[in-house]
Order: sequence, then C-alpha cells, then structure tokens
Amino acid sequence: MDSGPAAAVSSSLRLQPAARIRGRVHVPGDKSISHRALVLAAIAEGTSTIRGRAAGEDQDSMAACLRALGVAIHDIGTETKVSGAGLRGLRSPGAALDCGNSGATMRFLTGLLSGIPGVEATLIGDASLSRRPMARVAEPLRRMGAEVATSPAGLPPVTVRGVQLQGADHHLSVSSAQVKTAILLAGLNAEGQTFIVGRDTGRDHTERMLRRLGVDIETGDAIRLRPPKSLPAFDLDVPGDPSSSAFWVTLGVAHPDAEVSVTGVDVNPTRLGFVEVLRRMGAAVEIGDEADAGGEPTATITARSSRLHATTVTPQEVSALVDEVPILAVAAAMAEGTTAFRGLAELRLKETDRVDVVAAELARMGVEVKTEGDDLLVTGGRVVGAAVDSHADHRMAMSLSVAAALAAGETQLSGAAAAAVSYPGFFETLAELAGTAS
Ligand code: S3P
Repeated sequence: MDSGPAAAVSSSLRLQPAARIRGRVHVPGDKSISHRALVLAAIAEGTSTIRGRAAGEDQDSMAACLRALGVAIHDIGTETKVSGAGLRGLRSPGAALDCGNSGATMRFLTGLLSGIPGVEATLIGDASLSRRPMARVAEPLRRMGAEVATSPAGLPPVTVRGVQLQGADHHLSVSSAQVKTAILLAGLNAEGQTFIVGRDTGRDHTERMLRRLGVDIETGDAIRLRPPKSLPAFDLDVPGDPSSSAFWVTLGVAHPDAEVSVTGVDVNPTRLGFVEVLRRMGAAVEIGDEADAGGEPTATITARSSRLHATTVTPQEVSALVDEVPILAVAAAMAEGTTAFRGLAELRLKETDRVDVVAAELARMGVEVKTEGDDLLVTGGRVVGAAVDSHADHRMAMSLSVAAALAAGETQLSGAAAAAVSYPGFFETLAELAGTAS
C-alpha cells in the first residue's frame, strides 16, 4: 500500500494553534483488526477480500512479511485480496523477516510460525522494536513445545523453528492482547485445546474474528480454543481505528470552538476506555449511527467543546486505553486540576517509554507534569507552543500535534513523519479540521 502524501511529511513541522475546529472525518481502518485480518486470510483456504484495511507502515511490514512467507496479497484501490496458503501452508522465507516498527507483526508471526512444522524464520525490527520484550511471547509458546529463541535479554531478533505444538494452559502474567493473539495463533495448529486465564487480556478482535470463521472458541473469564481443521476464506470491511479517532475526539472536546465527527469508527468496548475517561472529565462525546462491521460494533463519534476537569485513571482501566494515554495526557493538560494516570508499567514498553516521553515533551510545552513510579500526574491550565520531539513514536507525533493546535503560540515538532506508522494523512486532516488546508 502506498503510504500517500504523509510519506512526504518532512520530519520537522511548524504547527500553529487552530482558531476553530470543524468537520466530519473518516479515519484509516483499524490497525489491530487489519493485522489480524491479514494473518488469518494468509492461513485460510482460498481468497479473502479485506476492504479498507489500515494504511501505514506497520501494515506494510505485516504484508511484506506474509508475502515473504509465500502469500499472494494484491491491493486494488482500498480492497485487498489475499490468497490463503492454508493453516500449515506458509513456507520459510529467503531472508530475515523485517517487522519494521510493528510489535504486533513480530509477536503474531512468532506465534503462528512456531506451530507450522518445517518453517524456519528469523524476525528482526527497527531500533525501537529491537528494544521491546519478546520473552512474554517466547515463554508461553515454549510451554506448548515451541522452538523460539530471543537474545539473552529476551529481545529481538527472534528465531523460530516450527514444530508440532501441544495445547497448554496459560496463566498470563502480562495484560497484552498481542501475547494472547500469538498464543491463539499457535493454538490453531496445536494438538489439543489451548486455555488462557489470569488477566484482563485487552482487545478481543482475534476472538471475535475466529468465532466468525466458525472456530470453536469460548471467551469470558477464560479463553478456550479448539484447533480447527481449516479456516474458510472471508470478506471483511475494516472499521475505522478508534485509536486514530481519539486524536480528533480529544481536539474536539479540548478546543474552545470545536465540533468534530468521526464516522465509521470501531466502538468495541475493549477499545473505548478513552471515551469513558473523557466523559468523566466533563467532555461532550456522543456516539450515534451504530452499526456492525464483520462482528465489530461501529459508530459515529461526535465531540464538542467542553470544560474539562481532572480525573483519575485506574490501573484496571489501562488495557482499554493502552494506546490513548499520550492523547489523554493532552486532554488533562487542558483540564482544571491534576489528572492521575495510575499503573502505566506497560506504557514503558511501547514504541518509546511513553510515561517518560509524555512527561518530558509536555513539560517542554509548559505543562506541569510529573511521574511517580509508573504513575503520571498532569496538571492542566497552561499549554504553550515549544520545540518538541516525537522520539520517532507515531502516537507521540500525533498527540503533540493536537497539543500544538490547542497551545498558545507556534510549536516546532521534530520527528513528525512518524505519524505515517499508523496514520498517513494525519496532517492533511488536521489542516482540514482547522480550516487551513491549501
Ligand atoms: C495491540 C495490542 C496492544 C496495543 C498495540 C496493538 C494489538 O499492545 O498497544 O498498539 O493489536 O493486539 P499490547 O498487547 O502489547 O498491550
């Protein structure tokens, strides 16, 4: 997929405060659903059609790795055709699989390939991904008999030699949908059942998709998967990415003269913690036009200027807003009082250490912000334009751009091009909403 005009975004941008925010926008397809759709289509029987899959470099990484594993993937406009290889039909790649910046690509493929006998692969990533923990995937897979190696510190590169796996009971020690999905993908080719218990495991897109494909999977307090004989090809319309919509929803509620609607957004409750928190802060956020897209609820989210006040985000809430803490911190910077985000240990393991990076960059914009262990405390009231840096993290680039639109004075953002990892076209949409598009 072409990453479009955003590929041309220069890495340093001058951003002005927005006088007014108005518009009705559509965000790219959900990244988590698109990753899962590509992987499941790759091991289905026959040709699947995925419409409106995520744009962005992370999706390109997943598609490139699947192609290297022998899967034919063709994009025609916004439609993607994937010729499935069958549950065990992937073949060893000729070179290392480059997962780029994408943790989901590395973790999902580690899980899937570990259960395909005869396949051998080494998975590598960029500088950021090379610092992210993979033992959390390798260890549960080894309990199923997998041959997976990481660096001694549990980091990439990951080397996998596919073997016949055995189903196992997993008590997850981390709350991670990526780990859960890696285990379920391995479980598809295992002998016997796979159980996962123990933790809130976050977004449930994998379970929903497998159920839709007829796989025997039970969910609830525990997940139980019985391996299918095969997976059927499927047609899927990918809903808009709620994590991308969160930038516009926050801009809408935090700007004093704003009304913005985002259409066709996935409103799966496991993704909507940010709406809950914004509403608790006094935000006017409406959810309407509810519909269904391939087993996922969708809606239009409308946000209007609101007087925001502080709240506390509890550790139990984090999994349903794990990617939205940076943008919620911007909302907190515009709110009255001190907002506490508690229990953000997982945030330290994302594309950057998002606890420290949010604190450092918002401080540069004059925000009173501090960290206490894995808690982040943001006191609202003052946001001024400044020189800030995304640290090559897409969600930081976009959160800081929203802060710039809300700030007093000009902001100079370094590393703006990182936005293209999940949202090519982000800066064009920002200009449209602010009425400054050329
Ligand atoms: C994702 C799960 C989350 C999230 C990431 C996408 C997924 O990661 O932060 O952006 O698609 O399953 P963790 O599982 O590491 O929490």
